[in-house]
Amino acid sequence: MKILVTGGAGFIGSHVAEFYAKRGDEVTVIDNLSRPALLKREIKNFDYNWRYLGKYKNVRLVKADINEQAKMQELARDADAMVHTAAQTAVTTSVTDPQPDFQSNAAGTFSVLEAARKSPTCKAIVYCSTNKVYGDNPNSIPVRAEGKRYVFSDPKYAAGIPESFSIDHCEHTPYGCSKLTADLYMQDYARLYGLKTGVFRMSCIYGTRQLGVEDQGWVAHFVISTILGKPLTIYGDGKQVRDVLFVTDLVEAYDSFLSNKGIRHGVFNTGGGIKNTMSLLELQDMLEEFTGKRSKTSFSGWRPSDQKVYISDIRKAEEKLGWKPRTSPREGVKQLCAWVNENKGIFA
Ligand SMILES: NC(=O)c1ccc[n+]([C@@H]2O[C@H](COP(=O)([O-])OP(=O)(O)OC[C@H]3O[C@@H](n4cnc5c(N)ncnc54)[C@H](O)[C@@H]3O)[C@@H](O)[C@H]2O)c1
Repeated sequence: MKILVTGGAGFIGSHVAEFYAKRGDEVTVIDNLSRPALLKREIKNFDYNWRYLGKYKNVRLVKADINEQAKMQELARDADAMVHTAAQTAVTTSVTDPQPDFQSNAAGTFSVLEAARKSPTCKAIVYCSTNKVYGDNPNSIPVRAEGKRYVFSDPKYAAGIPESFSIDHCEHTPYGCSKLTADLYMQDYARLYGLKTGVFRMSCIYGTRQLGVEDQGWVAHFVISTILGKPLTIYGDGKQVRDVLFVTDLVEAYDSFLSNKGIRHGVFNTGGGIKNTMSLLELQDMLEEFTGKRSKTSFSGWRPSDQKVYISDIRKAEEKLGWKPRTSPREGVKQLCAWVNENKGIFA
């Protein structure tokens, strides 16, 4: 198979590229290396994932922007499938500078879709959407505090938030808007042009090679800060809960979608689901147990649209894709700790 991965220098994209490279497929990766530039302050070897993929002979690295339509069309011309991970990924950055966010996430995805539509071979695309398409609506679900975490009080959400949850009338943030725009285009290109599009509305993905910073990638940010002895700021009280999914389990979900001949397209809430959840305080406890360290922690006010609880209802993905998360938070966090310990030189 020939697979085109956008955003391959990033965390998820590099794992997608590695998965297919290990399987012996021909992988092309396109990335404009914009994220690494944003990381310069905190991450010394910010092109780490880009260089990491260089070890695979069957991975071709193309440094370009997904908005370069001619380049996208050239790369898509003989690809069998695409996994589109490229995006501006920080909510905070989207608020301070919405234009580049729109350009990469909305316009950039349009360019990716057009390249797929015009390609004689590319029939399928996986799109990395986000739970942020539901904006502030998850905060309308009543929650209560139980020990070191919040839990949903409404039994209707005992299995988490389903794909039918409202995307309307809520604070999206520019990031939520640009990602939702692309999410809708993906769905419509399936309907209008017969492209097989998989829209994965992801909650918290974590794992090795995640260059997590305060703005994005909180599990990795907590692990890196704890191991390096750096202070942490928690916005809110630390009882906020997320379902967490280890990145290699996510890639298996993508591949289940691409290889399943029975599915034409679909929207899937994707995360660790109800069985794999953590609050920030619980992660700190786990890290103290694994490393013997706890970062000096200060608390600050809640940020706009921060969700007290977000847990994905993953039953549709499980049922339609025949997929399940396999890595528990304890196993995943252990693997992430080991990777950070082995690669301390990456971080400033
Ligand atoms: N990590 C998570 O928990 C999470 C959760 C929900 C959704 N997502 C989505 O998953 C995708 C991947 O996230 P990630 O955590 O790997 O992020 P990442 O920042 O590590 O990777 C994104 C990559 O895209 C590249 N990129 C950005 N704009 C580009 C452009 N215009 N042209 C070419 N390359 C460009 C960046 O340089 C970067 O290497 C994103 O679409 C993100 O919105 C991630």
